[in-house]
Order: sequence, then C-alpha cells, then structure tokens
Amino acid sequence: MTGFADERQMAGFKDFYQFSAPTRVIAGRDLLASAGFEFAKEGARRVLLVSDAVIRATGLVDRVAEGVTDGGLELAAIFDAVPQDSDGAVVAQIAALARETGADSFLALGGGSVMDSAKVANLLFTHGGSAREWEGYYGLPRADDGAGRALELAPLACIPTTAGTGSEVSFAAVIKDREAHVKYQIGDFALIPRLAILDPAATLTLPPALAASTGMDAMTHAIEGYVSRDWNAHADAYALHALALIHANLERAVHSPADESARGNMLIAASLAIVPTTSGALGIAHSLSHPCGALYDVPHGVANAINLPGTIEYNAAGGDDIAARYRDLAELLGLESAGEVGQTLADHIRGLVVSLGLPTRLSQVGVTEAGIPALVEGAMGDACTLVNPRVPTAEDLAELYRRAL
Ligand SMILES: [Fe+2]
Repeated sequence: MTGFADERQMAGFKDFYQFSAPTRVIAGRDLLASAGFEFAKEGARRVLLVSDAVIRATGLVDRVAEGVTDGGLELAAIFDAVPQDSDGAVVAQIAALARETGADSFLALGGGSVMDSAKVANLLFTHGGSAREWEGYYGLPRADDGAGRALELAPLACIPTTAGTGSEVSFAAVIKDREAHVKYQIGDFALIPRLAILDPAATLTLPPALAASTGMDAMTHAIEGYVSRDWNAHADAYALHALALIHANLERAVHSPADESARGNMLIAASLAIVPTTSGALGIAHSLSHPCGALYDVPHGVANAINLPGTIEYNAAGGDDIAARYRDLAELLGLESAGEVGQTLADHIRGLVVSLGLPTRLSQVGVTEAGIPALVEGAMGDACTLVNPRVPTAEDLAELYRRAL
C-alpha cells in the first residue's frame, strides 16, 4: 500500500530541471507603513509608484506613498492609470514617466495587471524598445561575465492587492496587444521582483467576486503545476502547500472579506502557487483560458475556474500515471474517491466554483460556439499546452470548449 504522493516520491531521478525563487518575501500585518524602509534595503532611492484608479480610490496608494517617504525614500511620481489588462502603450508611458521624473526604482501596488505593467516598464526603462519587441522567454540582454544571467533591471517591489496571479514573485509578465487581440508573455530572470510585501491590509477592499476569481487562478496554478509534465520536487513543495492553504482559506477569504487571517493566508498561497510555473509547470486550463481573455475579455481567474474541471477529467483519463498525480491532490483535499479520481476532483472544484459565486459556463461570459475555432487556434499555440500531462489534439481542445459552453 502506498501513502500520500508516494508514487511521485519514488519516480525516477530527472535528467534536468531548474528552479528559481529569489524574491525576498515579507509577510505580516502593518507592513504598508514599512514599504520605504524595506524597499531601501533593495537599493531604491527615488521610487515610481505604479497602481490603478480603483486602488487609488480605496486610499491604499496614499498609505503606501506615505510609507515610502517615511522610510526616507523620495517619491518620483505616482502613476495610477494602469487598465484592467496591461498593454504596450501603458508600459511605455510608465517607463517615460520614470525617466522624466528621475526615478531609480519601481513599486507596484495592485493586481496582476499593475505588477506586470511595472515589470515591463522597468524593462523598457533599462533596455529601451517596445514591449512587443521583448516577447518571449529568456530574451533579455545577458551580462558579459559568462554567468548567463540577464543584466539587472532597476529594483522592483510589489505589493499585491489580489491573491491570485503571484506576479509579485514570478519571472513573467502578460501584456495585451489590443490590435492583434492576443496576450503575449515576456519572461526572464531579471523580471523577478526583488521584494514582495504580503499584507492582508492590501486586499481588504478587494470585492468577494475578485477574491474568488483570483483565488481560482492560484488554485489552477497549484493543480496544473503539480500535474504538469515539467513537475519537479522543488516545485511540488510549493504546489502542495499552496493547495493546502487555498483549501483551508479561499472560501473564508471570499465570504468574510474582513477575515485578515484568511486574506493573508491566500496572499501567501498565491505567491507559493505561482512558483512551479516559473520552471514551466502549467497546463491546458491556462491554454484554454488565455484566448478567452484575449478574444472575449474574460477575466483570467474566471476563465480558469470554468476550464479547470474539464481539463482535470480529460487529463486524468489519459493514463494511470497521470491519474495518480490527481489522486495525491484529491487526498490532500480530503476527497473520498470511489470511482474515477478525475471526476471526483472535477466535481469538487465545480462545487467550489458555485459556492464562490463564479460563473461555471463559458456561455455565461460571452463565449459562443462560433468562436471555438479561433479559441482552439490560440490554445493549441499556447506554450502551456506543451507541458500538459496529456498531449491534446485540436479536436480534444474543441471538445473541452464545447463541454464548458
Ligand atoms: Fe494564471
């Protein structure tokens, strides 16, 4: 008889994997006031604070700005106009503002779009060019010392106001090309933020619907990270603990927004759950969801919440070894699985999505049957498809979209 995750632990030693999680994370209460004190340790002196209008209206921007100057740093400027999906024009604007105001560092206060905007603005600020020119992975200029590391960008600190994307510790940024209706990624070591400040006070004004959708994004990272073809032992440690935290805290964080422990634990969970993706571990829930965002403006977490259960059923039916990975997760979630583990886990997640008040069908968020061919094209070409545990055909993905309609 084997115990929890034994098959994974007894698997053969891998030929290769890489793992990187270098961000200094500080987590706790009353940290917004120490933003400047902490960011000074990373070499920041004159800070450009990047945020959006919704967060500005909550008063959080002013609190953090005060924390910056209280810590002895100068505030070069505040940019509070990041849109819901970051794009090339806005990151160019932020980079130009940083130059004009003599900033030497970036502090992002917001969700994924704000943090990704600050990452790419920092890239343009340091190396010039336009965002689209930097599309892809590991394309940043290397140092000449032969170490193979990307040249350092200006110090970047992130204070996430949602618990989901994990961008505060990740090496990638997602940018929308509004003309081409695609979202593309830029990923490299140098984009990884130096400092992440996880304080539940930054998420207390987050509405339940957003806490739910971003939390489902984190859950999707943890699950896809664990079952991915590119799994590794370091990443497993992060994925499993993230899932345990999400299981214990997500519903409370959504239904009781004032619950600081639940909100704080979800921030930690999200920052853990993204780490496996930094070594490439994701899957087709993300492949299916990216085109939903690019073509139908479906929020990323909502798309994942809808697509995740079907992909679990599909993957788990792809072989005993894949089903075994899902059995680990079902066991961690305390699920009894008399029949197919994929079905059991998928049903559990469908129930969770309903209890969180999120949509469960793509037709509820504007996707139509006529749009499926274009969605499939996007999903087949998505990098996440390559690391999915089961290799899908275009028809498989079309069927997953149809069943989720
Ligand atoms: Fe995601």
